[in-house]
Amino acid sequence: MERIKQAILRAKNHQSSEANLAQLRPDGQGKSFKSNISKSQDELVDFRYENTRVVKLEKEHLEKNRIVAFDKSNPMSMNFDLLRTHVLQKMEENGWRTLAITSPTPEAGKTVIAINLAMSIAQQTNRTAMLVDFDLRRPKVGAYLGMHMEKSLNDVLNGTDQLPDVLVNPDVPRLVVLPTRNAVKNSSEILSSKKIGDLITDLRERYKSRIVIFDLPPLLVTDDAIALLPKIDCVLLVVANGMSTKREIEDSLRLLPAENLIGTILNKADVEPKAYYYD
Ligand SMILES: Nc1ncnc2c1ncn2[C@@H]1O[C@H](COP(=O)(O)OP(=O)(O)O)[C@@H](O)[C@H]1O
Ligand SMILES: [Mg+2]
Repeated sequence: MERIKQAILRAKNHQSSEANLAQLRPDGQGKSFKSNISKSQDELVDFRYENTRVVKLEKEHLEKNRIVAFDKSNPMSMNFDLLRTHVLQKMEENGWRTLAITSPTPEAGKTVIAINLAMSIAQQTNRTAMLVDFDLRRPKVGAYLGMHMEKSLNDVLNGTDQLPDVLVNPDVPRLVVLPTRNAVKNSSEILSSKKIGDLITDLRERYKSRIVIFDLPPLLVTDDAIALLPKIDCVLLVVANGMSTKREIEDSLRLLPAENLIGTILNKADVEPKAYYYD
């Protein structure tokens, strides 16, 4: 564990001076972010989802999959609230509204963190959260939530449904999920397509109080994540304790634009309940 922490710190120190210089977006969108929040009351009225399917979630299923942020009595949920505070602060400072979650290699805990973070953000009454399953090779969001995915991003990509038809409100106020039901073969091409670019813009621009979290594939296995990152405001890197080499962590940090790196989480650390070391 110490080895990984040090590798992260070393690699991060290398980049931190640049990371701290994160600037407002050159297109000026950053500047208007705070004032947009004041509009959130109007937007929240719109957020009642007349058309969005509401699905009930099973507490037991969620807990089995480490989804805990909906339950304040669970000691682990506090970790996600702390992460939320840090993430939202950095996003507000920079006018960022879209967040990518990735890792060097698979099984780091990205999907677990993405779902819990989205739930924690949605609990703030002036915020809405959307969670998008963009790990098109190993989509897991719907399964972890225990949702029956009648419709999903697959149907939007196939052209059989429109985006509003496939969004789901999983029984948590102010949270909307865009699930992916089936793995997609040519995922790199799809993720770098104009269709996906337009979809991200649409999700970002529709409600200014909305934080959109994208659960991405790992960085070092395919070029899927690399294709998406330029379209997303900022990124959180998840490193699982003992699962990535120093080289893999450093390679990942090199691939990420330092000015958009919001932080690195060491997951699966051995001290419970502080299972998240955040830098
Ligand atoms: N903090 C943690 N401690 C132990 N196991 C974890 C932790 N976070 C996630 N896991 C488990 O690790 C596995 C991979 O998690 P997942 O979120 O699917 O990873 P990824 O999306 O990065 O591939 C799952 O079985 C998950 O329950
Ligand atoms: Mg995943």
